[in-house]
Amino acid sequence: METIRGKKIILGVCGSIAAYKAAFLLRLLTKAGAEVQVIMTPDAVHFITPLTLSTLSGKPVLVDYFDEKTGEWNNHVHLALWADVILVAPASANTLSKFAAGACDNLLAAVYLSARSPVFLAPAMDLDMWKHPATQSNISALLSIGHHLIAPENGELASGLVGEGRLAEPEEIIQVLAAYFENVEKNAAVTGSFEENGALTAHAEKSGMLTAPAEGDGLSPERSAPSGQRLRGKNVLVTAGPTYEAIDPVRFIGNHSSGKMGFALAQELAAEGAGVTLVHGPVSVPVPEHPLIRSRAVVTADDMLTACLETFDGVDIVVMAAAVADYTPVETAAQKIKKSPDAEGELQIPVKKTTDILAALGQRKKDSQFLVGFALETEKEEEHALSKLQRKNLDLIVLNSLRDEGAGFGTDTNKITVFDRSGQRTQFPLRSKQQVAGDIIQMIIDRIG
Ligand code: CTP
Repeated sequence: METIRGKKIILGVCGSIAAYKAAFLLRLLTKAGAEVQVIMTPDAVHFITPLTLSTLSGKPVLVDYFDEKTGEWNNHVHLALWADVILVAPASANTLSKFAAGACDNLLAAVYLSARSPVFLAPAMDLDMWKHPATQSNISALLSIGHHLIAPENGELASGLVGEGRLAEPEEIIQVLAAYFENVEKNAAVTGSFEENGALTAHAEKSGMLTAPAEGDGLSPERSAPSGQRLRGKNVLVTAGPTYEAIDPVRFIGNHSSGKMGFALAQELAAEGAGVTLVHGPVSVPVPEHPLIRSRAVVTADDMLTACLETFDGVDIVVMAAAVADYTPVETAAQKIKKSPDAEGELQIPVKKTTDILAALGQRKKDSQFLVGFALETEKEEEHALSKLQRKNLDLIVLNSLRDEGAGFGTDTNKITVFDRSGQRTQFPLRSKQQVAGDIIQMIIDRIG
């Protein structure tokens, strides 16, 4: 939390039942030493009073362009340029749609449009509103311009329905911010130009983003690239989901991989400006759509191998998140295998090894290419992960242990430990798959320079 000290944060609060959580969040932020300016949308004041938030922030809460009593103008440009980050929590469907469309009919939207700082969005809404293609397309648009999503959680919603849409917990939100500032400092330390007073100039220069007001009127025409464009121009191959190995026309050997981790990686990589080839096995969750993502559906390990080899020469980074079947039937029966009339009978299905795709890519790898593998283990986790890192000639390996609650297949969360070639071990807490994707990408960026 130390990295939050002294940071200037605009906390946008929208009209949502979850607005009450903004008070807890605000308290955590100020306790961590942040200077927080709260801006509420006009609807938000129906859910939590400005008085509560102004007391907790020690500053008047802003809602309108003008103070009706004094006639004073709340200068949205000045506010936007003041902030090190803009955090909107809760972000309503309405505000997300305004941000995505560039609408500007309230102070928060105007500050957002004038901002050059990174933007963190923590949505909260009913599950159907969250799932609606309109909201999802707004989210994709906002991710594609480099904003950070603090994904809503699954749980009981104000409507009584249960599902995705609950605002992330304040502790989780502040952790995301702390991790962000930590990375900014680390990057700046690498470039050697981070200023001790906590200014973000070094990161701003590195990512082409300005966080401090420009000289003069602060409206320099050299509007910089949004944050999160750090992989612009890089090509990345991501694999996701299981592979299915047919036994007969109706049965297959497969596994429980949902594809969610690989999809989150593809989405976050695209949000960083990378061109992503997403090769995925059979999945039931929606495949991410993004102008920078080109997806290719495959079924078997062999199909996935072919697709990966076709792409490999032209990519800078490979993230192999797919759970590829290790074995495939020696033969696929042309007709459905009938049950033996003998009730006790056993059925033997001869299988053979599939090609280890990652190991094959590791053998072909050029020095300029960066390979990331996953290791899902149930025992001797570290030993197995390190041996895979060596054996497959990887640059990073991401270890999941099925012994960790909330990690592994099907869940929306994951808990990872990452090892690099130098043996450095980095352990992360349980986080949403989207955030885990961000952590992995940060580790890649730190190492590819
Ligand atoms: N992998 C692959 N091709 C395979 C099997 C695995 O590319 N045929 C990749 C996975 O995508 C993952 C990594 O290798 O990135 C490790 O996969 P995992 O299943 O954990 O390990 P295996 O090497 O298959 O070893 P084991 O199943 O014995 O643990």
